[in-house]
Order: sequence, then structure tokens, then C-alpha cells
Amino acid sequence: MAEPVDLDRLKDDLLAQVSAAADSPALEAARVAALGKKGALTQQMKSLGGLDPEARRLRGQALNAVKDAVAEAIEARKAALAESELADRLERERVDVTLPVRPERVGRIHPISQTMAEMVAIFCEMGFTVAEGPDIEDDFHNFAALNFPDGHPARDMHDTFYLPDRPAADGKPAERLLLRTHTSPVQVRTMLAEKPPIRIIAPGRTYRSDYDMTHTPMFHQVEGLVIDESTHMGHLKGCLEEFCRSFFGVEDLPLRFRPSYFPFTEPSAEVDIGCSRADGQIKIGNYGDWLEILGCGMVHPNVLEACGVDSSRYQGFAFGLGVERPAMLKYGIPDLRTFFESDVRWLKHYGFLPLDIPAPATGFGS
Ligand code: PHE
Repeated sequence: MAEPVDLDRLKDDLLAQVSAAADSPALEAARVAALGKKGALTQQMKSLGGLDPEARRLRGQALNAVKDAVAEAIEARKAALAESELADRLERERVDVTLPVRPERVGRIHPISQTMAEMVAIFCEMGFTVAEGPDIEDDFHNFAALNFPDGHPARDMHDTFYLPDRPAADGKPAERLLLRTHTSPVQVRTMLAEKPPIRIIAPGRTYRSDYDMTHTPMFHQVEGLVIDESTHMGHLKGCLEEFCRSFFGVEDLPLRFRPSYFPFTEPSAEVDIGCSRADGQIKIGNYGDWLEILGCGMVHPNVLEACGVDSSRYQGFAFGLGVERPAMLKYGIPDLRTFFESDVRWLKHYGFLPLDIPAPATGFGS
């Protein structure tokens, strides 16, 4: 049993210990020394039993007051310590975000990624949103819904890679899946999933069994689709003109719309941009020669109907833009096949430093 001690002194002692605690463990030690099972105040409480009732009441009250004061001081000290510990930690872990990056360590952005990001940025600024679909498709999304009838020669034009037949199972019929030959199946997926008005672009990989100087079996496209009640061919032309001029940074870039054929658009057109081929070098601009860069047209009513869109009310346009060719033209990359050879030296030369990306959406010449 502890001897009764002078409470004012005890209080001063304990408060001094609390305020001297320099960190959380020291504060916890001070708390245990005062209020713990064997703490000074707890010991004093235990000694109350030996007093007569009136003395016990008075001393009990006084002890409780000391206890409250100490507990309060501990809480206050705790909050102050937490604050200064946080401040210390913030200071220790401070990051100077203005320091230059060390780009060498984190590799390069592939020109295809860079080019697609630029294309996406330009279309997004016009109000398009990005949609995606799978690389592995079925006949319905890649062909049938896009108005390619069974046995239609346009199917052969696509040199499709087919996956091994998938036998009928779980109540699903046998199916032959394929690698999508264009990004147009994303049109179908979007129209099946969303109601008009629709305004999407779909960047992604596409596949055709083709390999020579100007073809690789995997390549990239950016699809565009606009469906509403009033969009017409004039909007299509304006949209693509704006895009091409912004992408190539040539304000007076001429565009030529040549009649063409795609099963899923009517009328259909191929778009050429102005260029020059002087000295065996292609230069983009108003030089009198032409270079094809994309296919487009007004969405065929059969496609709208196959996708559950009322073709008597809705109409719109679609386009499919290659990525590799514009990338080669814009960045002076002479050979298509080098894109996919995974040669680090090539990437070091043609790749882009992260955070060093030209901002295509800020206007011409930027
Ligand atoms: N899907 C076509 C192709 O890959 C391009 C295209 C898309 C044409 C949309 C018209 C409309 O050749």
C-alpha cells in the first residue's frame, strides 16, 4: 500500500513528465507511470480504503481531479506530438516535383502509342469519347452485322485470321472466332449497347494475313462513329478535315473524297490528303499530289437495323483511320515493318520520352 502523498506535488510531477515526453513511446511511459495498473495515481486510489468516510470522500475527489488533469494533459500532448511527427514525416518524405525526370530509366513511348494518343486527343477535343472492343471477335460483329452477306467477296478481301473452331458446348452453337480485321465491330458493339446520339472513336489493334513492305499482319486503326437524327456527309467532311489539319499541323491541307465501296457505308469514300513525292520523299501539304489515308461513309441502314437502331429516324457517319501510315508520315519513319521488330535501338531513335509529348490539342505548330 502506497503512503498518501501530497497531491499538488504529485500532480506537478506527473504533468511535468507528460510535458517532457519527447515522442509517443515516452508519452506512453508517462501515462503508464501515472494511470497504469501500478501507476502513482492508481496506487493512491488504492490507499483510500484505509481512510474514514469523510476523509476518503475528500481525498477521492481530489485524486479524481488530479487524474482528470493528467489525462487531459496526456491527450493534449498526444495531439501535439502527432502533429509534429506528421510535420517531421512530411519534411522527411518531401518530393520536389519540379526536379527533371530521368527518362532514360523508364524507356520510350512507342511511336504507335504516341500517334494514337494524339489522334484520340484531337477527336476527344471535338467531343468524341473512346470506346473499345475485343481483338478476338465473332462473325456477327466483324462481318454479318456490318452488312457483309454470307459468301460475299468482301469477306475474302479481309484475309481473315480464324481461330480453331470452337465446338458446340453449354447450349451455345459451334463457332469460328477470328481476329478482328478492322475496328468496325466496335461500331456494332456500341450501337447494341447505347442509344443514340452516339459519338465515339475506337482505337485498337486489327489483324489481316498480309506481310510485305506496306503490310504487317497486326496493325492499328482508329474507328469513328457518329449517330444521331441529323448528321450528314457535310459533317463527316468537316470532321475529317479538321482532324487531318490538326494531326499533321498543316492549316491548308487539302482533302479529296473519292467514291469507294464498303458494305457497311453508303455512300462510301476514301480520303486522300495532299502531298508531294518529289525526290522520292513524301511530304504532307498542298503540293498537288495525293495520298490515301482513310475510309469512311454514311452508316448503311442495314447496319443500323442489325444493331437495333431505327434507320428511319437515325443516321450518321463512320470512318476508319489507319495509324501506322500517318505515324510514318508525321515522324519520318521509312519502313513499316520496323514498328514491330522490338528493336531497342530503333525505339531509342524513334520513340518519345515520357512527359516530352507534344500536345496535339493545343493548336497548330505546337
Ligand atoms: N473498316 C474499314 C477498313 O478497315 C474502314 C472503314 C471504317 C470504312 C468505317 C468506312 C467506315 O477498311
